[in-house]
Amino acid sequence: MKFISKHSEGLHGEIKIPGDKSISHRALICASISEGTSKISNLQESEDVINTLNSLKHLGVNISFENGSYLVEGVGFKGLKKPEKQLYFGNSGTGIRLMSGLLSTQNFSTTLIGDESLSQRPMKRIMEPLIKMGVDISGSKKDTLPLSIVPSEEIKGINYDMPVASAQVKSAILFASLGAEGETKIKEKSISRDHTERMFEYFGADIMFSKTETTLKNTKKFSSQDIKIPGDFSSSAFFIVAALISKNSEITLREVGLNPSRVALLKKLKEMGGKIEVFNQSLFGKEPIADINVKSSSLIACEVKSDDVPNLIDELPILFIACSFAVGISRFNEIEELKFKESDRLKAMQEGLLKMKINNYLDGNTFFIEGMGQNYKSPNFLVETYYDHRIAMSFAIAGLKSSSYIEIASPESIDTSFPEFIDLGKKLGCNFEVS
Ligand code: S3P
Repeated sequence: MKFISKHSEGLHGEIKIPGDKSISHRALICASISEGTSKISNLQESEDVINTLNSLKHLGVNISFENGSYLVEGVGFKGLKKPEKQLYFGNSGTGIRLMSGLLSTQNFSTTLIGDESLSQRPMKRIMEPLIKMGVDISGSKKDTLPLSIVPSEEIKGINYDMPVASAQVKSAILFASLGAEGETKIKEKSISRDHTERMFEYFGADIMFSKTETTLKNTKKFSSQDIKIPGDFSSSAFFIVAALISKNSEITLREVGLNPSRVALLKKLKEMGGKIEVFNQSLFGKEPIADINVKSSSLIACEVKSDDVPNLIDELPILFIACSFAVGISRFNEIEELKFKESDRLKAMQEGLLKMKINNYLDGNTFFIEGMGQNYKSPNFLVETYYDHRIAMSFAIAGLKSSSYIEIASPESIDTSFPEFIDLGKKLGCNFEVS
């Protein structure tokens, strides 16, 4: 497949953004271990989420699709069955890390694998706390995949100060704690997304959470629930930035998840002068949602402080694109976590920005981008995306501001999180060409 994003004159219209990836993984897993049948609507139907769904089916959970919703027949905390083969999680760090926590307390062994990118990502960050809880988990010599988990005698709750703010690590510990003896208390340095905590509460867990502290008391069971998944804020981010940096644009995005631990990008873009309005606020379960209206704006540079990084970690690539068309030098502090995502996103973005002829440089852990303002038109080029969906979508949006086009290498990666991206983009007026 060849994907070219061409200069576009303006975006207009209104779309509904498909379900949130983080919440979709959690909804499937929590429903699978609850008692009773849960109905999940607006599940994200991306490769990442479908890999989690398939692994739950291999673990003996019945999941069917009826009238636009998924029906998950929960088997309880201890009802999963030994899978016949290794469980495959494709590109998904969230899928594999959350499921490792869950599988830590089962009475059978499992091996977890993934694609080339996932096979290189660090797993020590989940292995360390799980081993402290008494879990028998091991990886390759470099603490990467395959992960192997074998049953152990006694698994205990843990008091854990997390060295890196990471919702995936926190969630792996919380899922393992469901089958462990005693209480678990987790402390974080900065706030990471709290979808697991909200979902656990929704399913009836005895959980308390404040900004950087989570306590899970012994919880015996989850009761099945109906769940409506909010639109994915991280997917919305691409079109929010697209509308801001394109002239003569106005778009509305419906039913977007606005969990406070995910929306630092909105705050940042507003500080930069972005004309963004949030309205029709309501709740889907324990998760806040709203509609978002965005208009073309002349942006000024921003500064991202280290405490904001976990909150906008997935949006940094598209924020770099916004900053490229802002006036002034933007500064991003302590963004090294970006190196450990689906690709080394810092390297991938630096390379692509250089091809856009946008000056950027790293000073230690601080990254700088010299914005060229809204009138800038980048040259035409082919961008390497390292099979990373967010790199591909970020440069697809940059292509709208090119003098003619940007070609996106390995665009298939987009299906890992947002298979509808190209069609929805075209609906809004993005000049996307696929051949
Ligand atoms: C996620 C947490 C984040 C994020 C990822 C999804 C989650 O990762 O980058 O895309 O669903 O828990 P970390 O928790 O490793 O920062």
